[in-house]
Amino acid sequence: MTVKRLGILTGGGDCAGLNSVIRAVAKCAISRYGMTVVGIRDGFEGLMGEPRTVSLTTYMVKGLLYRGGTILGSSNKGDPFAYKRIIDGKVVITDRSDEVIENIRNLELDALIVVGGDGTNAIAYRLFQRGINVVGVPKTIDNDLAATDVTFGYYTAVEIVTEAIDRLQTTAESHHRVMVVETMGRNAGWIALESGLAGGADIILIPEIPFTMEKVVEAIREREAMGRRFTIICVAEGAKPSGGNQVIREIVKDSAETVRLGGIGEQIATWLNEEKVAECRSTALGHIQRGGSACAFDRNLCTRLGTHAVHAVAEGKFGQMVVLKNWKMDLVPIHEAIAKIRHVDPEGDLVRSARDTGVSFGD
Ligand code: F6P
Repeated sequence: MTVKRLGILTGGGDCAGLNSVIRAVAKCAISRYGMTVVGIRDGFEGLMGEPRTVSLTTYMVKGLLYRGGTILGSSNKGDPFAYKRIIDGKVVITDRSDEVIENIRNLELDALIVVGGDGTNAIAYRLFQRGINVVGVPKTIDNDLAATDVTFGYYTAVEIVTEAIDRLQTTAESHHRVMVVETMGRNAGWIALESGLAGGADIILIPEIPFTMEKVVEAIREREAMGRRFTIICVAEGAKPSGGNQVIREIVKDSAETVRLGGIGEQIATWLNEEKVAECRSTALGHIQRGGSACAFDRNLCTRLGTHAVHAVAEGKFGQMVVLKNWKMDLVPIHEAIAKIRHVDPEGDLVRSARDTGVSFGD
């Protein structure tokens, strides 16, 4: 079948690079295949009720390569197969997938490119099973999809955190303080590990390696014994103490996520202050890690993913996700791609290199 009208949506939490993908998809689809490209607003939400769309002409995508966020908008609330609403304080779940499918048909979309994380791509796969021609593009700053070498948005987040650590190093040294910086990453420690390593953090705490405060204190004292009167701790939001639990900031009712993590950095800082281990301050970088323009690596990855997704559409390779495998573009079935989360290997060479250069993991 020849695809004439192509839809694209961005779903889930945003990250740097989404606009670069939108630009690549529109430019390639129009110039190479003469397709009409239709942008859907706010993820799958834009396909429920009255459809909300925007025509993505070459003019419309000008200047998007380096612009942060997504011009289409995104949402992590609109799972059409389990749409959550709060009615009279209670969570009510309805299946609105028929509405989405009807809207896709009414918009005469021959195919749909879905840019999102595991949740958004899981929805895409269910739509594919219902007969919609879907191609997925993986996105998340957490870098936790095993099917791809790296997800876009991740290295931009690592750059942002690294720069923050660089800045914290100088103020920590001036005041002889312990500085705790908390990163995002959900249940994976990639951002904390790679930015902690690049920024020269002394202690890195990640979900994959449970820590104890005794070992954290030991590492601070070891530095003091060497005349280093300041310490940087880089902690992933999902890190947890040995035998303990992750710190949950919020139980989420109206979204596909069930909990929102965050607060471990502040807890560690409070404990170190209260126990008089050291004067300590904490910084949680939060959504700063997802905002702003993408780094060069991510921009080029987005251009490759976007164009490759369009070629997959043109070749009728539906139900597939575009990935980077051994640093080349590849396709894997969406259901396989979202089935496996990639965690940091505690025995892997990244962790080993960190340990070999004196980093403590608090274990
Ligand atoms: O999955 C991306 C991510 O940024 C996580 O690292 C973080 O836990 C979560 O999303 C935050 O979600 P929200 O934007 O809903 O607060």
